[in-house]
Amino acid sequence: MEKFIVTGGVQLNGCVQVSGAKNAALPIMAATLLSHGLTVLHDVPELRDIAMMQNIMKLLGASVVREGHTLVIDTVAVTGTDIPEALMREMRASVFLLGPLLGRFHQVRLSYPGGCAIGPRPINLHIKALEKLGAHIKEGSGYIDAEAKKLVGNEITFDFPSVGATENAMMAAVLAEGTTVIRNAAREPEIVDLQNFFNSMGGRVGGAGTDCIFIRGVKSLHSTEYQIMPDRIEAGTLLIATAMTGGNVIIGNINHACLFSVMDKLQEIGSVIECRGNAIRIKAENLRRGVDIKTLPYPGFPTDLQAPMLSLLTIAKGTSIISETIFENRFKHVDELTRMGAKIKVEGRTAVIRGVDALSGTCVAAPDLRAGGALVLAGLVAAGTTIVDEVYHIDRGYERLEEKLNSLGAIILRK
Ligand code: UD1
Repeated sequence: MEKFIVTGGVQLNGCVQVSGAKNAALPIMAATLLSHGLTVLHDVPELRDIAMMQNIMKLLGASVVREGHTLVIDTVAVTGTDIPEALMREMRASVFLLGPLLGRFHQVRLSYPGGCAIGPRPINLHIKALEKLGAHIKEGSGYIDAEAKKLVGNEITFDFPSVGATENAMMAAVLAEGTTVIRNAAREPEIVDLQNFFNSMGGRVGGAGTDCIFIRGVKSLHSTEYQIMPDRIEAGTLLIATAMTGGNVIIGNINHACLFSVMDKLQEIGSVIECRGNAIRIKAENLRRGVDIKTLPYPGFPTDLQAPMLSLLTIAKGTSIISETIFENRFKHVDELTRMGAKIKVEGRTAVIRGVDALSGTCVAAPDLRAGGALVLAGLVAAGTTIVDEVYHIDRGYERLEEKLNSLGAIILRK
């Protein structure tokens, strides 16, 4: 298994470009299954989760060709609607296939999805939404069987604004008969990207980015060429890394409107942030102040940046409190950071962090994707060397994180 060997005590300086967003690319790739034409997607990051989605789509009969960061996807010959358990288990995002396969073939069989172990991650909201559109869904012995004579638009009101369930509902509704209204929809920017993608291929979707999305069903979707939005979580991670190391970095290919909650906290901590077009300059001070953070659905502070931010707060002055309200089991990095000298107490979904002067390098293992990123960041500021094991978690969602950080002056070896 590959590891990162991180040399501590560096300062990040220079310019770096953010990749396309994993969490936008995955549902958009799944949505291409609804099209009867060719889709060209630009800025698709090279990640394990994306490769996994490519494999599933090929197995269903699609042709998926990668040329650099461009994917050319032809789903005309797709006939498969049954996804093997081994592939489903690899990745949570495989649940996105429910909506499009139901929308196009009116049937689908898949096992419960896998992914990061950050909580139970049920799919009741996905199922409720699809049932509202006319699907009959049977669950049993780890499998979900869904079928529908036809899908018909309806009103869907979510109890909680789930990102994945909102996207699945949109994907099932886009070819359904009549109009669908999704209330208490998630407002994440990746949902706006999915809406824009559909509209570029002849869909009629509006309201994404608000809590009410309208979808007028169309008969078919045509070929399109589309550019995936920049990854706001990768951008946030690079901002936090710079703030941690007291550096001065320009991060390009950013939509800063998606990062207000993160920039706000970094300013409170003491960083100076300047937005210029599609770039952000962050100039960090060596003195960092502790802050309190509560993760929330967008536009609140993103749960995916909780772990990197917690890493930063381990070396901030004073006491900080982080409340994780989205996922139940998202403090797995705490034990590893404690082994590096951090002072953190977790009670339920709250972590109390008492800032220390320095962390010290040791051997740690990435417990999940974002927690893994957080440990790499801790390694950048720790005294000595930090070995981060099980980097395959990190490769699921950060495109060559070590190369990006090394281009800014970090010293990280992949072995
Ligand atoms: C997506 C993102 C993930 C991010 C999360 C929250 C992708 C591929 N992943 O995950 O990186 O951390 O949004 O911003 O885009 N829930 C239910 N029932 C459901 C669905 C969800 O109870 O049917 C709960 C979950 O257990 C969790 C909360 O809702 O506690 C949020 O989940 P959701 O918004 O659905 O996240 P994902 O779409 O899985």
